[in-house]
Amino acid sequence: MHVFDMEVGKIGFDENRRASYFQYHPEFLSDDNYLNLFPLIIRKQLQTQVFDRYNTQTFRGLPPPVADSLPDTFGNLVLKTWLESNNKTFQQISVLEQLAYVGKRGMGALEYRPAKDLPANTTINIDEMARVARLVLENKTLAGGEALDHASLVNIFKMGSSAGGAGPKILVSENKQTGRIIPGDLEYSDDYAHYLVKLGIDTGITYSKELIEYSYYLTATKLGIQMMPSKLIDGKHFATLRYDRQNGEKIHILTACGMAGWDFEDPNVSRYENLFDLALYLKLPHQDIEAIFRRMAFNIIFANKDDHLKNHSFCFNKSENKWRLSPAYDITYSLNPLLNFTRAQQAVSINGKRIDITLDDLLVLAERYTVKNPKGIVREIQDGIGVWVTHATELEIPQHIINAIIKSLTRVV
Ligand SMILES: Nc1ncnc2c1ncn2[C@@H]1O[C@H](COP(=O)(O)OP(=O)(O)O)[C@@H](O)[C@H]1O
Ligand SMILES: [Mg+2]
Repeated sequence: MHVFDMEVGKIGFDENRRASYFQYHPEFLSDDNYLNLFPLIIRKQLQTQVFDRYNTQTFRGLPPPVADSLPDTFGNLVLKTWLESNNKTFQQISVLEQLAYVGKRGMGALEYRPAKDLPANTTINIDEMARVARLVLENKTLAGGEALDHASLVNIFKMGSSAGGAGPKILVSENKQTGRIIPGDLEYSDDYAHYLVKLGIDTGITYSKELIEYSYYLTATKLGIQMMPSKLIDGKHFATLRYDRQNGEKIHILTACGMAGWDFEDPNVSRYENLFDLALYLKLPHQDIEAIFRRMAFNIIFANKDDHLKNHSFCFNKSENKWRLSPAYDITYSLNPLLNFTRAQQAVSINGKRIDITLDDLLVLAERYTVKNPKGIVREIQDGIGVWVTHATELEIPQHIINAIIKSLTRVV
């Protein structure tokens, strides 16, 4: 594993025990600058560490901060062809092979290379995966387009993508001078604007999820929630600038899930109190604590139920060796507006509750984490429902969809 052109350490995996190993590179540990790279889970010690408690779908047996680097879809033509000719499916590829495949292309700043001294009898074919990854990249240099538009996005999508999350999305880089776009994993220089694009593929449904997400983005940013600048491409694709690619540099990021080893699918750990406590542990400035409160209030009121711990992240400032809350992302109406949900649960609980959350519940957390003027914040956000309706109407989201969403928004005051 490498970061900022330095070797961080070596990862091993025992398929039988479904346990992983991590050993820091001695030089990395002796450099004070980056000691805070993994604030939790991976200890700052020279001895090899064993991780045998993370054998879940989310962590796949890896140390959670490393598991953050695994994309959950690997749609790619070259990889698919290679798998077929080797009679394999993606599931049969080991996690180390998957990391080798991620290589230098992952989200954030962590990079993975096959170790030079792999044991000769190794059964996992890490070098082979690294070779496939090179082929994928060579193939990708052929993809692109003249401008950030629908045709170019489709062209690049065919070559495959590797961002995490559920829906179809791609990473693209737009040349600031020429406007030409290329796949997002080839370059990270400042000559390009780096986007993550959620594709509005025509699925036959009568409304556009990306349009709704864009209307939420416009509303949330107006209500004081910091997000990366985002736009709609050709009226249907939601493009957001990447917070892990800024000023020509890779930014090291971790999700709350990966940083703390809290499986985002485990309701026992999915609590806003955990998120606030993590922020305090990281010594984030108080303005970040308030930002979490504001996002929480927004998610409740605007029915973004899918606010799980992989949808909250932190960015590492390497020159200060400090963490900050990342810009908000995946802020949208998470339910299907064509269906009637009356008892949908919040993914992350508040004051022990996932449904029927009230102003009092929010105030309990405000009190505990010393958020000033919580009632004012909550009122401002609730008044923002009108702001959303204006945006949604301007974007020509169908009236029955707007009505359905309004109906399921939560008024807490
Ligand atoms: N602006 C961004 N910059 C960098 N990474 C992002 C950005 N937005 C989302 N991501 C990353 O991509 C993943 C998928 O994006 P998300 O919006 O959560 O999609 P989904 O709706 O599929 O969950 C997120 O979990 C996050 O790690
Ligand atoms: Mg998400």
